[in-house]
Amino acid sequence: MTEFKVKDVLLAKQGILSIEWASKHMPVLNQIRHQFEKEKPLAHTMIGACLHVTKETAVLVEALTAGGADVALCGSNPLSTQDEVAAALAEKGINVYAWRGETTEEYYWCVNKVIDHKPMITLDDGADLVSTIHMKRIGALEGVRGGTEETTTGVIRLRAMEKDGALKYPIIAVNDAYTKYLFDNRYGTGQSTIDGIMRTTNVLLAGKNFVVCGYGWCGRGLAWRAKGMGASVIVAEVDPVRALEAVMDGFRVMPMDKASAIGDIFVTTTGDISVIRKEHMLKMKDGAILANSGHFNVEISIPDLDSISSFKRTIRCNLEEYRLQDERKLYLLAQGRLVNLAAAEGHPSEVMDMSFANQALCVEHLTKKEKMKPKVYSVPKEIDELVAKLKLTAIGVEIDKLTEEQKKYIATWEAGTV
Ligand SMILES: NC(=O)c1ccc[n+]([C@@H]2O[C@H](COP(=O)([O-])OP(=O)(O)OC[C@H]3O[C@@H](n4cnc5c(N)ncnc54)[C@H](O)[C@@H]3O)[C@@H](O)[C@H]2O)c1
Repeated sequence: MTEFKVKDVLLAKQGILSIEWASKHMPVLNQIRHQFEKEKPLAHTMIGACLHVTKETAVLVEALTAGGADVALCGSNPLSTQDEVAAALAEKGINVYAWRGETTEEYYWCVNKVIDHKPMITLDDGADLVSTIHMKRIGALEGVRGGTEETTTGVIRLRAMEKDGALKYPIIAVNDAYTKYLFDNRYGTGQSTIDGIMRTTNVLLAGKNFVVCGYGWCGRGLAWRAKGMGASVIVAEVDPVRALEAVMDGFRVMPMDKASAIGDIFVTTTGDISVIRKEHMLKMKDGAILANSGHFNVEISIPDLDSISSFKRTIRCNLEEYRLQDERKLYLLAQGRLVNLAAAEGHPSEVMDMSFANQALCVEHLTKKEKMKPKVYSVPKEIDELVAKLKLTAIGVEIDKLTEEQKKYIATWEAGTV
């Protein structure tokens, strides 16, 4: 019997339309779904998923259930659930526990409800499901065959668990597939972060000093898109190689200490803690806008912002004004939670098509393989390449093939200068 807790089941009609719209832009995942429908590789598999409950996630859930799986789903962030999608999933018979605006307590209640379904495979985005099972629900470990992880921060946490000898089942790091991070983190986060800022503030980007903290895959995607819209982009980094890349990509690079005095808009994409803190906030211009697109809401220190503010008010949805003691005002978007999901709709369906195709194929891989050791695994190369091939075909792009001569040439060490 389906069990669920969502904001309002009456939103299901709109949710179904939104899922249809996403599905239309996810040809690779649809192809996998058709295959799953025929072969039922996930029959008798209970999947527990802690993912952003978006229209694209719903398309993934449909693919998994087409393969024969039962799915229990909760959100992977208290502010990212699309309530109409959660309602539609409940109507479609999925065990879904998610609504926008969960408290921390409610968030973990939902995670625990998913664990109550005794998942055999876990799908995580940020590793909250895996860590809850390992720390609070160890009884559930016995039935888990393996899992997947969607994001950089989750993979970092899982590798730390592996290093400590704490990880008790195998996890495939979907984030680290080329067909994931090169597109999802770069183009997906890049575009949808701008979308979140636009929907919340509608400020003009052209001519603004736009500070990107962290020039990783998300950060560079964002920097390039902000530049494309006419912003003057400044990058803050701690990694010398990435800082150098940013310089050669044409961006100004400087420490936050300096950037904080000249930035108009600041976005963190580091996966790190307290990247923007009191000492930076105290230097910021009146009206500066602060947003985060990294996984957790710790990149902008909200305790610091609270401590230097004399007054706080909500200007509009997802936009909080903080008045400092000297009357300057700073604006925080989406409570410092990932702005692209909390204030917009997350990544476009076209990129989630590839990320979730990897997810679906990795779940199938976990069910097919002999028991794997409890480690963090890369996405098998065949899956990564298959996703790229299917995407190219779907968008009507043909590529060359190596000739026999070329295959031989690149495999030899004897041929040199001619
Ligand atoms: N918003 C989304 O939808 C979304 C999508 C994918 C990933 N993410 C999250 O975004 C974050 C970044 O992911 P990524 O794939 O770009 O990671 P990444 O490892 O490629 O990049 C992070 C960068 O931040 C830099 N950095 C770390 N600490 C810093 C500091 N104190 N100041 C300045 N730079 C610092 C690192 O040197 C690195 O270059 C992670 O938390 C990830 O989980 C969010």
